[in-house]
Amino acid sequence: MVRLIVNKTPVDVDVEPDTPLLWVLRDTLGLTGTKFGCGMAQCGVCTVDVDGQAVRSCITPLELVEGAEVTTIEGLSDDNSHPVQRAWIENGVPQCGYCQSGQIMTAVALLQQVPNPTDADIDAAMAGNLCRCGTYPRIRQAIHRAAKLMEEA
Ligand code: FES
Ligand code: FES
Repeated sequence: MVRLIVNKTPVDVDVEPDTPLLWVLRDTLGLTGTKFGCGMAQCGVCTVDVDGQAVRSCITPLELVEGAEVTTIEGLSDDNSHPVQRAWIENGVPQCGYCQSGQIMTAVALLQQVPNPTDADIDAAMAGNLCRCGTYPRIRQAIHRAAKLMEEA
């Protein structure tokens, strides 16, 4: 049994400790907003926040996050009111949408660490999150907008 905190709720998970966090989130806990892409830390679609850091859940064994606070896209808000979600909606960022929860979770971690990021900060932080639809310019705009919304809050 491994205990962790997911979206502010303590959960005890009875699976093998080397099970990837991604499968625990999706299959055990039913949090399917976090997606599977490459399974090899190469695409970023499985990104979640672990204790304030953007983490690739596909290669993170459950035992490594024992006791940690994990936030998934579902944990940002109940009504898309998180500043990053609002900025994403305002800028119409998603196209097919598949990569977007990972993009948003990486952006959330960036803004926790760098509240007013430059284009270079954004490009460096987001480099590991691929988007086959090429939404990169809108992602950049939305991160700048989210930074403003957070400043005003
Ligand atoms: S599925 Fe985890 S990085 Fe691609
Ligand atoms: S919106 Fe389609 S892969 Fe990014």
